[in-house]
Amino acid sequence: MTVPKFKKFRIQAYKPGKSNIGKNKNVIKLSANESALGVSPKVKKVLKNKSLILSKYPDSKAQVLRKEISNKFNCDFNKIICGAGSDEIIQMICQLYLKASDEVIVPQYSFLMYRIYAQIVGAKVIFSKEKNFKVSVSEIIKKVTKKTKIVFIANPNNPTGTYLNKIELLELRKKLKKNILLVLDDAYFEYMKNKDYQPGLDLFKNKDNVIVMRTFSKIYGLASLRVGWGYASRKIINAMNVIKPPFNVNQPAQIAATEALKDKNFIIRAVSHNIIAANKIKKFLEKFDIFSNEVTANFLLLNFDKCKFSANYVFKKLQSKRIILRSTEDGYNIKNKLRLTIGSNKENAKFITAIKVIFN
Ligand SMILES: Cc1ncc(COP(=O)(O)O)c(C=O)c1O
Repeated sequence: MTVPKFKKFRIQAYKPGKSNIGKNKNVIKLSANESALGVSPKVKKVLKNKSLILSKYPDSKAQVLRKEISNKFNCDFNKIICGAGSDEIIQMICQLYLKASDEVIVPQYSFLMYRIYAQIVGAKVIFSKEKNFKVSVSEIIKKVTKKTKIVFIANPNNPTGTYLNKIELLELRKKLKKNILLVLDDAYFEYMKNKDYQPGLDLFKNKDNVIVMRTFSKIYGLASLRVGWGYASRKIINAMNVIKPPFNVNQPAQIAATEALKDKNFIIRAVSHNIIAANKIKKFLEKFDIFSNEVTANFLLLNFDKCKFSANYVFKKLQSKRIILRSTEDGYNIKNKLRLTIGSNKENAKFITAIKVIFN
């Protein structure tokens, strides 16, 4: 039988944080930056009580959800587009803006989907150097050529946990030529409490050459339902709507995300849990000479350079105790480090006990 010829991509496919060990699914998964507190009880209730109409297509424009987003974040309903995760927003941006031989700049250690979607549409990905695992505005500017179309930044960044402050972000936008699109990914902004930080949406709501992305997969705990959104000028959003798959966000996802936005207390609890737990774990790990970034998101990048054990050794030891972290060697190409997602109190306690056992 003949397999019709398909395009060949020289791309390393995205490997998600592991969720099982062999056939064992009974694991503590601290590898994918998912929500420590799960889903808001109010969301669970509404999904249980509402009669979901699974036989009908969902609202292709996600109007109720977009209305709720515009109320909550005080922004223009017409400038919002929803996606099956912010992942799909990244994909649509690449489809809309890039053709073969265009260039995209991504910081050396940035979220992998930017480079993957850019390469799928044939664009060339240019990496800008980071300084101490932090995005460098001057290194990005150095990489700009006539072919540069987009610069992608996650702020705070996954997997490094570093961030550009408000002044640095404004400087970046100012120094980039006006016709280059800046995509700012606010995926973890809720967790970030530093005074010099400002989310992309607050800074660039009215800029025509910035797209901001947000997700319901992190603090809202809806990773499995796949909902995210993008915010940009009406011109860009209208153009994205032309290429958007018609029913990309399913009905349960739209209902859950709308309800999640209303549960302010859940978000307050999630932020507070994260700050307390992350700082506690960070301090605890320092006793074993494992150092990490300051708390900016729901994960820590653990550095084993001064530790008596290597990242790989600890990764395997934890795995044998059914605790999964994210190796940063695969894909990110960061040596001797592990990314740890902050879990529930129960999960964190098990992680702490396991580390004590490994080191003693
Ligand atoms: C920086 C960043 N952006 C986007 C995403 C993707 O989120 P979503 O689940 O909305 O596709 C992630 C997921 O880990 C992320 O870390």
